[in-house]
Amino acid sequence: MSETTAPSTVASTAPSRARAEIDLAALRANVRTLRAKAPGAAFMAVVKADGYGHGALPCARAAVEAGATWVGVATPEEALALRARGALPADVRIMCWLWTPGGPWREAVEAGLDVSVSGLWALREVERAAREAGRPARVQLKADTGLGRNGCQPADWAELVARSLHAEREGLLRITGLWSHLACADEPGHPSVAAQLALFDEMTAHAEQAGVRPEVRHIANSPATLTLPQSHLDLVRPGIAMYGLSPAPELGSAADLGLRPVMTLAASLALVKHAPGGHGVSYGHHYVTPGETTLGLVPLGYADGVPRHASGTGPVLVGGKWRTAAGRIAMDQFVVDLGGDEVEPGAEAVLFGPGDRGEPTAQDWAQAAGTIGYEIVTRIGVRVPRVYVNE
Ligand SMILES: Cc1ncc(COP(=O)(O)O)c(C=O)c1O
Repeated sequence: MSETTAPSTVASTAPSRARAEIDLAALRANVRTLRAKAPGAAFMAVVKADGYGHGALPCARAAVEAGATWVGVATPEEALALRARGALPADVRIMCWLWTPGGPWREAVEAGLDVSVSGLWALREVERAAREAGRPARVQLKADTGLGRNGCQPADWAELVARSLHAEREGLLRITGLWSHLACADEPGHPSVAAQLALFDEMTAHAEQAGVRPEVRHIANSPATLTLPQSHLDLVRPGIAMYGLSPAPELGSAADLGLRPVMTLAASLALVKHAPGGHGVSYGHHYVTPGETTLGLVPLGYADGVPRHASGTGPVLVGGKWRTAAGRIAMDQFVVDLGGDEVEPGAEAVLFGPGDRGEPTAQDWAQAAGTIGYEIVTRIGVRVPRVYVNE
């Protein structure tokens, strides 16, 4: 076992207040499971937002060991950090898609990143960067096929394609990919899915007729990789499923999908004490002990990413039983009612994990907080050291 910290975590020798154990064998197995679902497609491991809270670099490396040949992130800064550390094999392609005017285009071109372009302002900036860098940029044109977020509208596509081809002929860039993103892939049968796939087909056909020769065309996120073979095209781009979470409970549990959760979040109880009945617990006294009991103090709070919305509902395994966050979850700590059980201070409190030991899962916390599993794992804060196992 080795201990590594998230980028801005202070202490790598942190005592065991709390830890997020990251099982890289589980991540590799999930990548293999997903690759088996899309055997004809290349695999882009999405490690944005510090690998959905799991650590971008260790997860990217593990995914590459399991067959990923691309790594995807949102911001250029995330991509440059992965490239700069030189820790990924040089032939692993790194793509980033969330640009703003004045972004580090030149650094991206020099680092050989694949950059996404959704509009003419971005094309102009990337052309200028390529001129300055003296080498062509790798550009992937993004189509808005219906998500209504980033991407080029169909009405503007012909112009973006034509101007990109012009820049390609001038040697300023190479159009390496055509891509899009689905709005409702986690709702099988949603009419937007077929509509988006059909429009993507039309928009890529237009680009190819105009002369674009993309290395990859891609649109599939985790739910599409798992359930929509017709969306796999040349490359799939899963994020959440790689970390072992189901993209949506309606698609089945992680286990139903053959996935194993990668992160286990645990803490050591900071205090266990006897309290009389009628004792208010935590800010606002939203919980009052129903009778004489024991209270356990969990040294994790919303500053660590434990959602305050799960006050009174968040489940924790302590002493072999599920307990519930009693009263408000505070910034650094919350309390569980141990119901009179004599548990030692320092005993393990498992907030979530794969579930094998009877512990809750991130999905249980998502339900308790009225959110999605993505948010639960991604928000685990930098104060919680990531401890990597099965590297
Ligand atoms: C453009 C893009 N592609 C792929 C993904 C991966 O999605 P998921 O985590 O649902 O697999 C995301 C994540 O939101 C994304 O923004």
